[in-house]
Amino acid sequence: MGLLGKFFRFLLLGHCCKPTTTGGYSDSLRPHGISAATHGIWALAYDLFNFEITCQVPEDLSQHVVSSKKAQANWYRKLVETWREAKQPPRSEEEAARLVIQTLKGHKKADVQGLLDFYGLPHPHSLVKVSAGVPTSLPRGVKFEFRTLPVDAKAVPDGDGVTVYVSTSDPRESSCVPSDVQIAAIQRSEARADKNYTKADELHQKIIDAGYRYGTECSKRGDPARKYRIRLRGIDAPETLMPYGQEAKEELVKLLEGMCLRVLVYGEDRYGRCVADVYCNGIFAQEVMLKKGAAWHYTAYDQRSEFARWEEEARRNQIGLWASSNPEKPWDWISVKDR
Ligand SMILES: *[C@@H]1O[C@H](CO)[C@@H](O)[C@H](O)[C@H]1NC(C)=O
Repeated sequence: MGLLGKFFRFLLLGHCCKPTTTGGYSDSLRPHGISAATHGIWALAYDLFNFEITCQVPEDLSQHVVSSKKAQANWYRKLVETWREAKQPPRSEEEAARLVIQTLKGHKKADVQGLLDFYGLPHPHSLVKVSAGVPTSLPRGVKFEFRTLPVDAKAVPDGDGVTVYVSTSDPRESSCVPSDVQIAAIQRSEARADKNYTKADELHQKIIDAGYRYGTECSKRGDPARKYRIRLRGIDAPETLMPYGQEAKEELVKLLEGMCLRVLVYGEDRYGRCVADVYCNGIFAQEVMLKKGAAWHYTAYDQRSEFARWEEEARRNQIGLWASSNPEKPWDWISVKDR
């Protein structure tokens, strides 16, 4: 296994076979887009991995923290240890931040915050704890569920909606692909075989208009993917033009981008969107949005008591949109706009 391969094992599995050689790798490994300048979990994972080999902490960390290089080496030693021991190594910036905060409990606050800043990881006050777990039985009212292909960042229009694609190789989907889409799909692959890309593009447009699409990530078997627009059930995020609207959208992008979602659909709204609960890596998207103060509990349409509790938690801590003393309700804002 090459060093980079070992790094990925370390990153993903939390195990790392200790290399027998030491030193001399740091520069040759850096060009892979993972460097101290690349903020986030990747950079931290890389630096920890690098520390295991070289016992070196990042050169420019001292500009962000107050303690000595020797103290810094001590933090990295501890971090490597917790990372390896973690049942599941951190997979998001929040999990990474939590690992850093817990590991360095009792150390100087300026150091911990400096280290978080160095990697662009969130600070403790903006961290929320979410209850892991996807419901084992379908909640009452769920009509059907599906799993999506990885979500594109551009597919998140605001803090409570997302457009997703489901592969038609999924058994639930394969039986309901309309015949004109099936025919267009066959003709398209013929046109591509003939290298007539103009024709292939026209046929793809027809497929897109019917609510399907092809894409590189869509399906290995070459099946088209079906498009669904999702409205997260029970929350209402500020509109993108409202204060905190962009931030709310970015929270959702951060959570969903690149992820395959599990979507539990309750029904359709008046815009033809699926009203749904969205789970991402076992994390309930609505819970995160409420706890981060990125959305309101939409009480007119959803009375789940835990939703009320999660919103209350964010209000009390004045995080997200609740940092403002009197935030406007998204549902009021719409009615003003329409007037
Ligand atoms: C591509 O397909 C179109 C539409 O069927 C046809 O008019 C055109 O002649 C084809 N072009 C080539 C280069 O075969």
